[in-house]
Amino acid sequence: MKIIVDIKEMHDYIKKIKKRGSSIGFVPTMGYLHEGHLSLVRRAGEENKKVIVSIFVNPIQFGPAEDFDKYPRDTERDLKMLKELKCVDCVFMPEAKDMYKEDFATYVELKNNMPNVLCGVSRPGHFVGVTTVVAKLLNIVQSDRLYLGQKDMQQAVILKKMIDDLNYDTEVVICPIVREKDGLAMSSRNTYLSPEERELAPILHQSLQIAESMIELGEKDIEKIRDEVKRKLNKANIKIDYIEIVDADTLQKKETLQGKILIAAAIYIGKTRLIDNTIINIPD
Ligand code: PAF
Repeated sequence: MKIIVDIKEMHDYIKKIKKRGSSIGFVPTMGYLHEGHLSLVRRAGEENKKVIVSIFVNPIQFGPAEDFDKYPRDTERDLKMLKELKCVDCVFMPEAKDMYKEDFATYVELKNNMPNVLCGVSRPGHFVGVTTVVAKLLNIVQSDRLYLGQKDMQQAVILKKMIDDLNYDTEVVICPIVREKDGLAMSSRNTYLSPEERELAPILHQSLQIAESMIELGEKDIEKIRDEVKRKLNKANIKIDYIEIVDADTLQKKETLQGKILIAAAIYIGKTRLIDNTIINIPD
């Protein structure tokens, strides 16, 4: 498993791989890996000749009051986990000073509503940071396939749109959410939770399951479903950021429950913001 820090060295490595005609699967991460990330890497290994994983805590996707400084980092542990998978060819770990030189001036921004809804409401500017860094990484890695987790579904939808709009020759593969035994979606940020908070955290998944079963039982009233989810969270004194039912491809609010529906929520457990979602296909 090669480890590359230098961007020019990465360009040269990719040129070599491309010359041999090997397909490239790319998994971008911010490190502090967990089973969710590893599931993406394994899938990339099954579907490509070469697998590249990036580890880069992208400073420009964190707001001024967010957790960039305290974002968990453990490169040694990450590299050990990746090596044990035996399918990773290269880990790209660029430095912030090289990714964003002092005179850095070019940002990639979706001008539609996608970055302003759901998480975008409480995290203004976050998705410009994400689209900009992934655009840069894709220019460097030139992957045939890009692997993203459904856990960050808004991010995946936005990146899919960027890739389509900017004609990147890469297929987006969205992989299922990986959960702890008690249903909590895996996230590097789960490490912020105290033992008591950790015990409470599965309530997010449980509340989404309420929405799922209401729909399965034939409930068609979107507000009624949102109210039930809210009721469950309010009862446990959980601070809700949002609970939305939107179109899973466009992220726009649904008037009727039809087609591919994304039920997405963000809550605060103590100071930690957790997100989760579920996708349901409702035949027309
Ligand atoms: O999901 C993440 O970890 C990040 O947003 C990503 C896609 C690696 C970009 O920094």
